[in-house]
Amino acid sequence: MTETTETSIPRAAPGRPARPLAPAPDSTRDAPLPKVVLAGGSGFLGRRLQRVFAAAGYEVVVLTRRPGSVAAPARAVAWDPAKFGPWTQELEGAAAVINLAGKNVDCRPSAANRREILKSRLNSVRALAEAVRRCAQPPATWIQASSLAIYGDAGPLWCDESAPLGDGFAPEVCTQWEASFAKAPLPPLRKVLLRIGFVLSPEAGALPVLARLAKWFAGAPAGSGRQWVSWIHAHDMDRIFLRAVADPALVGTFNACTAGPATNAELMAELRALYRRPWLPAMPAWLIRAAAWLLHSDASLALTGRRGLPGRLMEVGFRFDYPALGPALDEMLLGPRLPAAPPAHLAPAGAH
Ligand SMILES: NC(=O)c1ccc[n+]([C@@H]2O[C@H](COP(=O)([O-])OP(=O)(O)OC[C@H]3O[C@@H](n4cnc5c(N)ncnc54)[C@H](OP(=O)(O)O)[C@@H]3O)[C@@H](O)[C@H]2O)c1
Repeated sequence: MTETTETSIPRAAPGRPARPLAPAPDSTRDAPLPKVVLAGGSGFLGRRLQRVFAAAGYEVVVLTRRPGSVAAPARAVAWDPAKFGPWTQELEGAAAVINLAGKNVDCRPSAANRREILKSRLNSVRALAEAVRRCAQPPATWIQASSLAIYGDAGPLWCDESAPLGDGFAPEVCTQWEASFAKAPLPPLRKVLLRIGFVLSPEAGALPVLARLAKWFAGAPAGSGRQWVSWIHAHDMDRIFLRAVADPALVGTFNACTAGPATNAELMAELRALYRRPWLPAMPAWLIRAAAWLLHSDASLALTGRRGLPGRLMEVGFRFDYPALGPALDEMLLGPRLPAAPPAHLAPAGAH
């Protein structure tokens, strides 16, 4: 199967929004723009999707607890996943609802935080399902975020969508999150579940932090360094969401990561090489745990991993614009390279 044009976003320069090739629909025509509703769309992935879907010709609505945090081209609509309100009407006739809502997992693994991580995810699915059931014309597609962390700390095992699910807190959260989506009674609509890997962007997420550490001569591997990092460039992540909305052939569960995962030691070595920094010994796990506690983070994000494979994306012919880690990091952190000036004897006639 070939890709639809909706996934053909020209590569974005670092810090700049990607611009799809597909022209925006003619604004003079009568038909309203197809609508995409981003629940929890004010965060890292959602902010990108606001721009990407607007540029691809969609009306973009963000369901948020903080309407002031959303700006044009998106329209903010206040929601509380624990309550019904006018937000439910936004789903009526939408092309897609994309659910990204959930407490960020980059926090201390305290009992209270863990409860909120789970509750925020289950509540948002439950609230959206109830709202969809009330629609006279339900959204055509529901795209639900999940995480590759569902496979747990999987060692060297390749994890495509059929891999066994892991043990521990993160796999347990993902399993319940996915089950709430799978079991919600819904009218007929297309359901796509994305098990998202480690999304790399120079603007947000963990990459800017790791890059800064590498620059400051502190880019050491974490623990054994053998844990796998299943990464994906944010630009390719945007394209997967666009494709999932536009292509009716995408149904069910998809791992959203490249086929070229790296170990933590390889990732840190790439970053050190980028900034021409010397080799460093690994940071012991106990030190990572202490640092994570001080930084209000969760050491398991650095110390555990899985070797993801985007089996089903490969089946549907999705081609990554950034399949290899080195060039992806290079472009994100150092910027696109200007082509070298051609040798004088190859320069076009008349060029100086
Ligand atoms: N980024 C990644 O690398 C990655 C990897 C794997 C999975 N994912 C999953 O993909 C989804 C989006 O990721 P992201 O990086 O964009 O996350 P994010 O930046 O943390 O944004 C998530 C959004 O969820 C909403 N939210 C936070 N706490 C909430 C709560 N207690 N109740 C209801 N809503 C709450 C917030 O929106 P408002 O404050 O505006 O309401 C926030 O903007 C998340 O579910 C995440 O677990 C992301």
